Amino acid sequence: MSDRIHTLSGYFHEYQKSVTEPEKFWARIADSFHWQKRWDKVLEWDFEGPDIKWFVNAKLNITENIFEKHLYTLGDRAAIIWEPNDPNEEGRTITYRELYHEVCRFSNALKAKGIKKGDRVIIYMPMVPEAAVAMLACARIGAIHSVVFAGFSSSALADRVNDCGAKAILTSDGNYRGNKKIGVKSVVDEALEKSSVDTVIVYQRTGQEVTMKEGRDHWWHEVIEGEEDTNKAEVMDSEDMLFILYTSGSTGKPKGVVHTIGGYMVYTKYSFENVFQYSPGDVYWCTADIGWITGHSYIVYGPLLAGATSIMFEGVPTYPDAGRFWAVCEKYKVNQFYTAPTAIRALQAHGTDPIEPYDLSSLKVLGSVGEPINEEAWHWYHTHIGKTRCPIVDTWWQTETGGIMVSPIAGITPTKPAYATLPLPGIQLCIVDNEGKIMTGNSVEGNLCICFPWPGMLRTTYGDHERCKQTYFSTYKGMYFTGDGVKRDHDGYYRILGRVDDVINVSGHRMGTAEVENAINEHPLVIESAVVGYPHEVKGQGIYAYVISDMKNRTEENLVNEIKDTVSKIIGPIAKPDKIQIVSGLPKTRSGKIMRRILRKVAEGSLDNMGDTSTLLDPEVVTEIIDGRK
Ligand code: WTA
Repeated sequence: MSDRIHTLSGYFHEYQKSVTEPEKFWARIADSFHWQKRWDKVLEWDFEGPDIKWFVNAKLNITENIFEKHLYTLGDRAAIIWEPNDPNEEGRTITYRELYHEVCRFSNALKAKGIKKGDRVIIYMPMVPEAAVAMLACARIGAIHSVVFAGFSSSALADRVNDCGAKAILTSDGNYRGNKKIGVKSVVDEALEKSSVDTVIVYQRTGQEVTMKEGRDHWWHEVIEGEEDTNKAEVMDSEDMLFILYTSGSTGKPKGVVHTIGGYMVYTKYSFENVFQYSPGDVYWCTADIGWITGHSYIVYGPLLAGATSIMFEGVPTYPDAGRFWAVCEKYKVNQFYTAPTAIRALQAHGTDPIEPYDLSSLKVLGSVGEPINEEAWHWYHTHIGKTRCPIVDTWWQTETGGIMVSPIAGITPTKPAYATLPLPGIQLCIVDNEGKIMTGNSVEGNLCICFPWPGMLRTTYGDHERCKQTYFSTYKGMYFTGDGVKRDHDGYYRILGRVDDVINVSGHRMGTAEVENAINEHPLVIESAVVGYPHEVKGQGIYAYVISDMKNRTEENLVNEIKDTVSKIIGPIAKPDKIQIVSGLPKTRSGKIMRRILRKVAEGSLDNMGDTSTLLDPEVVTEIIDGRK
């Protein structure tokens, strides 16, 4: 635990060291891990390529750093506590030793099915411990996992299977969510009409009926039967791929963000222990889904590398009622609780009655992630959940960054509502104006960039390195561009202002406006569409779509519903527009570019200042759009 920051001056000291001697700093952190062969060099980098290598030529297996490293000391400690959707169903506590054996058994089963080092494996599963077993089993044998959020549609799933050329899909029969039982295998079946894999392994969760294709589909409980519960972990290079995680950008289809083993391992454990000030024996709960990066880094890898007890929750915050989170906190005496602002706002709307029955005195740290937290939600969280006792860590980071980048160190960094505060050691931020000029000093606002590599950063976008370069390393030369706007206040504290590109953040889920437009355009009567975000009380941002359509003989209501269904089918229910306005035209410049600024203003309801509309091809449409605003 020598890498732990204990005081504010300790933080500044570590930060300073991480900037003046980054290689020495990270070598010291990496020393506490188990490497089969030590690195020749800590870092090689070039942001032009980009070409980034951490712990060059080191050999390791990340799962040895979870299991072999902990078994003798922590074998009987709970690694995962699983809380099912239905509070009346019994939960499960899985110790490090049990998890180790499960992972070995399942990784042996994967090998028996012909899956080997370098193969891509899609995991499309609900929040059951086997999802974590699946990820770790892949890591154990050197297969590259790509978890796809189980709420994505069959066509989104098929796109991902095709993009990474997956050899297998690990899934379940169904999924319980609130009072619903949802088919999961059936979505895989549909996806496999448009893609193909050799093997599908189905974990039985709900017992609902599924179709199994002979030779391709197998039951989880059958494939592990008779498999040994130990094995030797595959020897991996530090820069071998650990996983691919698809995420939305401002253009085109979701891209597969690639993380490699060594750096990601070092960074997730280090950031987890420090940000949450995790102490041995604490019970930690992150409410994210493993389909998102937060679930990867802070339910599975970070906590398990740290030997922590990590809760995995299958359900939703409002089932059976809006007190569920607090019931679970009481039940397991949760010490660190990490959730998204959208959940806080949704619960805030139910008032404080649902909190009253529960003893929340075990809580020590509260965390927030995924989107900017507004001051009101911050205060509500602080007062009613943390009883003003618990520091809030507002953690800013991204799928691409692998781990938390800007955040208070719990209980150490003085907090300020809605501020992610200060960068973690090793993270060199800079703010640039639209011309790319670095803005120095405090009280400035601009685009957030990172100008030096950190171990957890993405290495490429799968199968398309050029896209990685264009998206992240070309806007501002020599820097990684985050896509976020940021303010550095008079104290030097950072406040994230939200995306400055065409990415919107709906309930903490990233969505590309172009991606939603493409889905809308799949409806046969849609001629053109434009999607923007607008402030939404609970979701943070809502999706507002302007659609030009041939109505044929449908009512507007029918058409709107059909369009929503189309989007649901193509991406998933999370991408369904909140508002759809049928328009006869879109405001375009003479060169045919849609003026999104205007569409955003109308969607926001700030109608008084439309700016200069004289350069528009058809200024009349603006009036029509304002009049028809939803
Ligand atoms: C936003 C989620 C403000 C931001 C870990 C970023 C935040 C995007 C915060 C990444 C925060 C995440 N405050 N905004 N604490 N955390 N964001 O890839 O716009 O799903 O670029 O990763 O979420 O979303 P992603």
